[in-house]
Amino acid sequence: MANPILSPSRLPVIAPSILSADFANMGRDAGGVLRAGADALHLDVMDGHFVPNLTMGPDLCRCLRQALPDAFLDVHLMVTDPGLFVEPFARAGAGNITFHCEVVTRDAAVALAARIRGLGLSVGIAINPPTPVEKIEALADLADMLLVMSVNPGYSGQAFMPETLAKTRRLRAAHPTKRIQMDGGVTVDNCSQVRAEGCDVIVAATAVFGRPAAERPGIITALRGG
Ligand code: DX5
Ligand code: ZN
Repeated sequence: MANPILSPSRLPVIAPSILSADFANMGRDAGGVLRAGADALHLDVMDGHFVPNLTMGPDLCRCLRQALPDAFLDVHLMVTDPGLFVEPFARAGAGNITFHCEVVTRDAAVALAARIRGLGLSVGIAINPPTPVEKIEALADLADMLLVMSVNPGYSGQAFMPETLAKTRRLRAAHPTKRIQMDGGVTVDNCSQVRAEGCDVIVAATAVFGRPAAERPGIITALRGG
């Protein structure tokens, strides 16, 4: 399957986060949003240490890869030691791996990005709301995609933090061709502002899976901007 993060198309990439899917009906929900027009599935991996929650691991990724062979799987590692999980998620069929700038030195990020890319995946680097933008700017050359968190990570369903758009605006100005992902509290009501401030990879959990399945095709179209 083609990697939408590396696609030369400037069209927004819509990546519903399966964190808000029905875990007892994961194949149905994940397959449903892909048939409804989503470009990727976003997997929020939490270790109970970097963030105060536990979510999913490589086994779920592998099962999604088997059940949905054409799906692009975008793995967001909210973990203290991302180096432990690069190979397991690559073997499990991930297409992109994102790690957080808060947990790496420059040297560690260089090595991690090289490992991810060496496995044939694209590289994302993420930043939390309280972290100064300079921290991710110093690593931006290593990444195909910059993920600006618009909530403090840990749970879906939190309110969007509009002040984080200052980061996407600044990163977009500095990196006109890089993908910029926004994650947290994105809805059909605020997505046009999110896109206008430079984001072209849109993650949404509650806004997609919190609505009935019949509404999801329209929501995905609205998140993309028509
Ligand atoms: C932050 C996760 C997000 C989050 C999105 O904890 O990285 O992907 O679950 O959920 P919503 O869209 O409900 O804010
Ligand atoms: Zn995420």
